[in-house]
Amino acid sequence: MGHIICIASLKGGVGKTTTAVNLSAAFASGQNRTLLIDCDPQGSASMGVGISKKKLTRTLYDALVGTTPIEDTVHDACAEFLEVIPARGEFFRAELELISKPGKERMLRNLLSNIRNRYDYLILDTPPSLSLISINAMTAADTLVIPLQCEYLAYESLIQLLRFIRLVKKNLNPNLKLAGVLLTMYDMGEKVSHQIADNARRHLKNAVFKTIIPRSVQLREASGLGKPLMLIDPDSVGARSYLELAREIVERGKNKSLKLET
Ligand SMILES: Nc1ncnc2c1ncn2[C@@H]1O[C@H](COP(=O)(O)OP(=O)(O)OP(=O)(O)O)[C@@H](O)[C@H]1O
Ligand SMILES: [Mg+2]
Repeated sequence: MGHIICIASLKGGVGKTTTAVNLSAAFASGQNRTLLIDCDPQGSASMGVGISKKKLTRTLYDALVGTTPIEDTVHDACAEFLEVIPARGEFFRAELELISKPGKERMLRNLLSNIRNRYDYLILDTPPSLSLISINAMTAADTLVIPLQCEYLAYESLIQLLRFIRLVKKNLNPNLKLAGVLLTMYDMGEKVSHQIADNARRHLKNAVFKTIIPRSVQLREASGLGKPLMLIDPDSVGARSYLELAREIVERGKNKSLKLET
């Protein structure tokens, strides 16, 4: 049964989508059947794997409101072993349409139970908010990856998110685990990057992944080209960092002593 990983953060622009897209590509490059699920109405992850929003007919919205079976919303993406359930603007409406439904926090979890055995990894990209959709994603997930951008004030919102995750775990998904906190946009030459990394490791210890995602112009440019960096320059530092992250997630999953509780 596929392992469901939710990429979450309360802050915008911290590298959630870049992580979802490039981590999905890293798993797929190892011939793992991988499904990227775009839970953000901005649709950035869909575009990041080459989906043109204009041509879309079926999206995650259609599955959530019950007009289309979830398997019919799966699209081929830009790489072998990689598929995507896309999202786009109408997804904003899903929040309103679902709000009065019974079991509204578990809808995504229930939908994914129909298809998760077809995949090795299912990666959920989420919006930067504590919306019903984000709660659905955390309720559907086995583990969480939390990007922490190496900038001031990032740490405070991480602490708020960890508190919220404890509530989700208590009330909705008791088996939810923290795969790890991921330092993103790390710049070796910047004092603030060292400070954020040191602070995170001091307080969160081995909850912080050893893998660090560097600030990389190539990663930024790849997202504009609608491709994971792995497909453009597999030997680049950015692509290799995400391969390393995929390996670390697998290792952490195997090693019980590193299985982290939130
Ligand atoms: N490691 C990196 N190095 C350089 N630029 C990066 C890196 N990671 C992400 N970016 C760029 O930073 C911007 C924000 O990244 P991204 O879209 O992944 O963040 P996000 O957390 O998903 O944002 P949102 O909250 O709006 O969904 C994008 O322009 C992206 O290309
Ligand atoms: Mg995003």
